[in-house]
Amino acid sequence: MEEFKLTIKGISLTRSELSDADEQLLKSAEDASKNAYAPYSQFYVGAALRLENGTIVLGTNQENVAYPSGLCAERVAIFSASTNHPNERIETMAITVNTTKSSIVDPLSPCGNCRQVIMEYQHKQKSPIRLILASQSDKVWIFEDAAALLPFGFEADYLKNS
Ligand code: THU
Repeated sequence: MEEFKLTIKGISLTRSELSDADEQLLKSAEDASKNAYAPYSQFYVGAALRLENGTIVLGTNQENVAYPSGLCAERVAIFSASTNHPNERIETMAITVNTTKSSIVDPLSPCGNCRQVIMEYQHKQKSPIRLILASQSDKVWIFEDAAALLPFGFEADYLKNS
C-alpha cells in the first residue's frame, strides 16, 4: 500500500493586488451578477471570460421552478463563448457572487459540474484556463490552471477503444 497526497497550486491575494486587466474582468463578473435570475436561491453568480482576442463573455446563473432545469453562471458563460466564439481560446475566467443571504468570506469555488465543463474546454483548446475566484470579501484566489480544481476528473481517455 502506498499513500499519495495532492498539492493544489494557487495564490490567495487581496483585490487591490490584482493587475488592472484582472480587476476589470472581476468587475465585469460582478456587474454581470446583477443580471442573474436567481429568485429561488437569491445567490447571484456572475462569470466573465476573457478570450484570447480580448473579447469578454459573460454568464449568470439562471434558475427555474423545476430546479435542475437551471444552470450555473460558469456554464452559461462557457457555452455562450463556445457558441459565439468557437475558435477563440479562453484565457481567464473570473467568478464571483453577490448575495444578502449569507456573508461569504471565501471566494466562490465552482461546483463539480462546472469544473467538469471547464476542463472539457480546457482540453479542447489545449491550453490552461486561468481562474480568478472571488466573493463579497476582499479575498481573491487565482489558479493558473483550472485542472488544479479537478483532480481525478473524468477524461476522454476513459472512452477510448483499447
Ligand atoms: N451556482 C452557480 O451559478 N455557480 C456555482 O459555481 C455554484 C452555484 C448557482 C446555482 C444556483 O442558481 C445558485 O447558485 C445556488 O446554488
